[in-house]
Amino acid sequence: MKNNKVYIETYGCQMNLADTELVRGILINHGYELTEKTDDADVVLLNTCSIREKAEERIYGRLGNFKNIKNSNSNLVVGILGCMAERLRKDLMEEKKIVDLIVGPDEYRRLPELIDVAFNGGKGIGVQLSKTETYDDLIPYREDGLQAWISVMRGCDKFCTFCVVPFTRGRERSRSLKSIIKEIEQLSSRGFREVTLLGQNVNSYSDNENDFADLLAACAEVDPLVRVRFTTSHPQDLSEKLLQTISDHHNICNYIHLPVQSGSNRILKAMHRTYTIEHYLNLIEKARQIIPKVSFSTDIIAGFPTETYEDHLMTLDILRKIRYDGAYMFKYSPREGTKAYKMKDDVSEKIKVKRLQEIIDLQQQISFEKNQEQIGTNEIILIEGYSKKSNEYLAGRTDGNKVVIIPADNGIKTGNYVKVKINRATSGTLFGDFVDFYDVKSDFALIA
Ligand code: SAH
Ligand code: SF4
Ligand code: F3S
Repeated sequence: MKNNKVYIETYGCQMNLADTELVRGILINHGYELTEKTDDADVVLLNTCSIREKAEERIYGRLGNFKNIKNSNSNLVVGILGCMAERLRKDLMEEKKIVDLIVGPDEYRRLPELIDVAFNGGKGIGVQLSKTETYDDLIPYREDGLQAWISVMRGCDKFCTFCVVPFTRGRERSRSLKSIIKEIEQLSSRGFREVTLLGQNVNSYSDNENDFADLLAACAEVDPLVRVRFTTSHPQDLSEKLLQTISDHHNICNYIHLPVQSGSNRILKAMHRTYTIEHYLNLIEKARQIIPKVSFSTDIIAGFPTETYEDHLMTLDILRKIRYDGAYMFKYSPREGTKAYKMKDDVSEKIKVKRLQEIIDLQQQISFEKNQEQIGTNEIILIEGYSKKSNEYLAGRTDGNKVVIIPADNGIKTGNYVKVKINRATSGTLFGDFVDFYDVKSDFALIA
């Protein structure tokens, strides 16, 4: 087959990373080959993100680069996949003449056919959203490794007023428990040691027989050596059953990403987040009772329309109260088509920047203090490979999702579970010493 080399670049969230693997699987099945270099490529695909304006600007910038490549290779097919394909299909086709292919998240099965259209000089467009497409029967293409993303549901029905996801990804729908389990069995036999179950709102998972807690339990039971993580949980429907399931399984990580967005009830209401701060705090308390070692992370938006200085103080206050292990913090970015877009973006850029910086500084201080508290304790980490900085050190991750750096000796290998003692910490990283190899199969007990 000629014209068969595909290059893909991925932006945005983990669901996009997982979708890129799906797209690779589909294209390889149709005789395509992957390439790591744009120079070799016959088809260049950008799997795009629309979540904030900056994300889209970056991708427009990248399209500018491809324009140059296309000038010297007019046969090159340039395609936009993912969330921008849904949001900006008209703009992209009309204004950016270099785009030959626009395919949204629910039309990836048609990619080979649409690429052919583009090769024949047409425009390949597939931007229908589906109420049922889950790609349940397709196997994503994954390189060998330790960690895999698995999309267990698609879409979002929450319609937070600031967010484009319900428009770019369509309605919620879930894969079958059976096919997810089969996928984990295959990953386990290939030597994978960690899977992360993905959905914009995983707590809403339902395959009509099983809810998300059932799914998590079934995933954890596939192989005690395979850790199970999940993201993202919405505070409205994080059930007690789910907390209990996490607590009951040693290999479901004690880590919950639970975006709060704001500390002010008035702002939460304007965001249509459907919970109050009191409900949220109760949830955290309940989780800490049921899972004593649980870690939390969150997402925060600074400068949502009408946010006052008092609202901002409430957000800082909630960070102090909860003491998250980590946070993803953003300035509000108006997105066309969302409800909040109709509100006046009345917090000035200068104030947004200032508030965001205060939030970041406070969280960094808290992360630092929390990491200091871990000095002297033991942790079990899964070794992921050499540390970024040096081959004399290995990096692993705790159950609570923290990176630990240890000396590379004692015959420790990637994929080993080891018990380490923490001896030093910064706000982002823990450092430790090897204590012992950890036999997950014979010792399910948590260690202090
Ligand atoms: N489904 C997840 C989040 C998806 S988007 C959830 O409900 O938590 C990831 C994060 O991006 C959001 O939690 C929010 O904090 C941020 N975000 C989304 N839209 C945004 C916008 N318009 N401006 C700034 N931040 C935004
Ligand atoms: Fe966006 Fe809200 Fe859905 Fe998360 S829950 S994806 S923030 S609409
Ligand atoms: Fe971005 Fe779409 Fe994910 S907007 S964050 S790639 S769901």
